[in-house]
Amino acid sequence: MNDVAEMTSSTDSRDAWLGASSSWKRTHITTSAWPGHAPFAFWLVDAIRPRSIVELGTHFGSSYFVFCEAAVRLQLDTRAYALDTWQGDDQAGIYGEEVFQSVSATNSAEFSSFSTLLRGYFDDSLASIADGSVDLLHIDGRHGYADVTHDFAAWLPKMSNRGVVIFHDIAEHQEGFGVWQFWEGVSKQYPSFEFEHAHGLGVLGVGPDLPLTMQAFFAASAASPDQVRAAYERLGAQIEELAELH
Ligand SMILES: C[S@@+](CC[C@H](N)C(=O)[O-])C[C@H]1O[C@@H](n2cnc3c(N)ncnc32)[C@H](O)[C@@H]1O
Repeated sequence: MNDVAEMTSSTDSRDAWLGASSSWKRTHITTSAWPGHAPFAFWLVDAIRPRSIVELGTHFGSSYFVFCEAAVRLQLDTRAYALDTWQGDDQAGIYGEEVFQSVSATNSAEFSSFSTLLRGYFDDSLASIADGSVDLLHIDGRHGYADVTHDFAAWLPKMSNRGVVIFHDIAEHQEGFGVWQFWEGVSKQYPSFEFEHAHGLGVLGVGPDLPLTMQAFFAASAASPDQVRAAYERLGAQIEELAELH
């Protein structure tokens, strides 16, 4: 029996995709289409213990500060980079300077020891991140098919041998959104799993030496996809409810 098979058979297979971190609550509540994925993001950071996290598309920091909060709670020795023009685009909407100011204020107050905001176009920051260094990449920029195809191709060389990429909006089919189409192809090329709630989140294991926790996750989630999706949809709805009450 290999290590992963041992891990999944010797424990309840739920342990491969659910943990205490899945129920953590966010401190930073910001407006976004993303918070329903916070429970899985907490679990993911716990599972892969990334040494380097990069996010393409940060806006108010709804997703980014979940990654940062997880790194703090887990006392990880990690570097995190948030990339955005902080001007918006035609899909997210064009917004004012106050958005960057608020993200920057939160970052300076709480996360600046390990987190850096790289302002500009994603491609302009390629030289700032070493090839083969990123353990966790979140792609959430513009959502056209050509945009996500470009972002993935441009940033794939940055991924480490343990690298995991997550894509937001894989279940969004409104006009101009093509992540679903990109996901249809790329999800067949690597170990993958998809969540359908909160506009969808694709999880892709691009590294050839994924952590055992992620190997176990892909095996267990393939065996009981509906259970995994239902659990995280429920946990995500609780977080969304809290955001509405705020
Ligand atoms: C959907 S929003 C990000 C949402 C965010 N992840 C959240 O949790 O709410 C997309 C962001 O990507 C930025 N963006 C889109 N294309 C970009 C590019 N090529 N370079 C830099 N920023 C970009 C926009 O300014 C916008 O703030």
